[in-house]
Order: sequence, then structure tokens, then C-alpha cells
Amino acid sequence: MTRAIVLYHSLFGNTRAVAEFLAKGLERAGIEVDCLSIDDVDINQISNYDFLAIGGPTHILRMSKPMQEFLEKLESIDLRGLRGFAFDTRNESRMNKKSLLGLENSAARRIEGKMKRMKVRIIRPRRSAIVEGREGPLDEDVQSVFAKIGNEIGKAIV
Ligand SMILES: Cc1cc2nc3c(=O)[nH]c(=O)nc-3n(C[C@H](O)[C@H](O)[C@H](O)COP(=O)(O)O)c2cc1C
Repeated sequence: MTRAIVLYHSLFGNTRAVAEFLAKGLERAGIEVDCLSIDDVDINQISNYDFLAIGGPTHILRMSKPMQEFLEKLESIDLRGLRGFAFDTRNESRMNKKSLLGLENSAARRIEGKMKRMKVRIIRPRRSAIVEGREGPLDEDVQSVFAKIGNEIGKAIV
């Protein structure tokens, strides 16, 4: 059976909810999924999965500090060729729209960049879920959008 792991960091629960929507979509495609906080995962187990998704909140235009520290630890593990996807939560703010290079400022962009440097094969472009303010709630469409993404990824990796 194809196995996926969805890892998240979340201060207020919004990114955890997005991770769970994604996991549900994967499960509906027949994938066996573990959905875990970065605090609870044994990084030595990650290479046993067929697919890895990582998501976190956008903090000061970048990924959160705990996510940055987690990804630094992850660099010690050989993840070459593992299929992956990055996501985040953030506000719908003008500040996020464009960096100097014309790219959006989001945790997902940084996470995806790190995953690529670890030679994880990104199989779907990063995606942001929009929250209101710091604590949420999430935009109404987030549940259906991420369940659909999970389902589509699931169908592609079986
Ligand atoms: C310290 C801090 C800095 C933040 N900086 C940004 C930011 O630069 N851009 C943005 O869109 N949202 C920013 N936010 C809002 C977060 O993205 C939002 O709190 C998060 O997506 C909620 O997810 P969570 O419930 O999983 O923690 C910030 C929030 C905090 C607490």
C-alpha cells in the first residue's frame, strides 16, 4: 500500500486543520496516511514513506522558527527521490504578494525550496491557505480545496 506522511507546525490550529484536510483527501484515494506535528515525528521514519507533505504558518514573511529548525534537522536524512508537496497558512496581505524577485512571501515557498535542496521531487506546486488575522478562521473554501489537492495527489501516487 502506498504510504504518505503529512507534517505540520501550527500555533493556533489552522495549519493542523489544513494538514488534516489534505490527509483526508489522500485517504479517499486509498493512501495510508500519517498526519503528525513536527514535534511528534521520528525523522528516521520519513524515508519509509512514498510521499511527504510539509506545511506551516507564515511568520514575518517566512516559515516559523520551529519549522526552520525542523528542516535543518531533516537535512541529515537522505530523502532523495521522495515525492513531496509544500503548503502553508498566511493572511491575504499585500505584503505577501511579491518579494523583490516577484515571488510571493510565504512559508510554503521556503519549505518547498528546502525540500528541493534535499532532492525531494516536488510533484505539485506549493499552495497557501488563507486565514483571517493571526488565529483564523480559515477561508471557507480551504477544506474543499485541500481535500481535492490531497485526493488528486493520492490518485497520482498509487
Ligand atoms: C509572529 C507572527 C508573525 C506573522 N507574520 C505573518 C506574515 O508575515 N504574513 C502573513 O501572511 N501572516 C503572518 N502571520 C499570520 C500567520 O500566518 C497565522 O497566524 C497562521 O497562518 C495561523 O496558522 P496556525 O493556526 O497554524 O498557527 C503571523 C503570525 C504570527 C503569530
